[in-house]
Amino acid sequence: MTDAKTFGIAGLLGWPVAHSRSPVIHNHWLAQHGIPGRYVLFPVPPEKLESAVRGIAALGLRGCNVTTPHKQAVFPLLDRVDDLARRIGAVNTVVVEKDGTLTGFNNDGNGFIQSLRDADPKWRPDSGPILVLGAGGAARAVVASLAAQGAQEIRVANRTLDKAQEIADAVGAVVKVLPWEAREAALDGIALLANATSLGMTGKPTLEMPLDRLPKSALVGDLIYIPPETPLLAAARVRGNITVNGLGLLLNQARPAFNAWFGVMPEITPALKKAIAATF
Ligand code: ATR
Repeated sequence: MTDAKTFGIAGLLGWPVAHSRSPVIHNHWLAQHGIPGRYVLFPVPPEKLESAVRGIAALGLRGCNVTTPHKQAVFPLLDRVDDLARRIGAVNTVVVEKDGTLTGFNNDGNGFIQSLRDADPKWRPDSGPILVLGAGGAARAVVASLAAQGAQEIRVANRTLDKAQEIADAVGAVVKVLPWEAREAALDGIALLANATSLGMTGKPTLEMPLDRLPKSALVGDLIYIPPETPLLAAARVRGNITVNGLGLLLNQARPAFNAWFGVMPEITPALKKAIAATF
């Protein structure tokens, strides 16, 4: 299994999984690096998750990604879960170790941060206060990863205040909880605005977010990538802010996973971006 010449398999466990772009990404990198292997989709209903995870090592897989609705449920089925994934409360990547044991990671937040740095190399998590909109699973990954990378103040505004408070409880004192109505005033002095709600996604309501108080120097990130430019990103771009959509997260979270499974840290090339764009 550890022989680089053997055919390496990794995949995605989720329910449903058909929409996923991860096969395009990983199979592109496998071909690019001449690594014999395949990334496949495993539709696994919740009641079969335990048997599926037990089978990962038995089948000789290198590991897998985990998506909705299994990101939390997979915890007790793993041999160890790294600290960041524990703070996030969700696993998105499982690695089969040499001894066949399973380790869980969560690369989503770090992938988002990397995509911001790719767009604006001057920006760092400690460049200034951050406003995160939303407090679901995606927000939690972003907030915990920003805090782990040195953010000093993360304002979290959410419609359901209790969920923002849960993030503050898990992540610590750098998180300031704000009611949804306070989001506009919370733009003052920020270095990053990140939308981690579903608002602005195709088929969902628009995000009401006047940007007059947003500093021109602030970066604006949206975890959404359908559409590629949400109304929030379009408005921010028009006023001159640097903007980043959710595709960067998808691509950047995949890099360390591929490295762990196949032993090569792959690059996000124009050809890969083109292959992804062709799927929309
Ligand atoms: P994910 O796992 O992708 O983060 P989620 O857990 O369903 O998805 O989170 C969706 C986020 O969008 C939440 O922060 C949600 O707010 P609530 O916690 O109050 O549900 C936010 N959201 C969805 N619809 C919204 C709306 N109409 N107004 C404000 N926030 C909304």
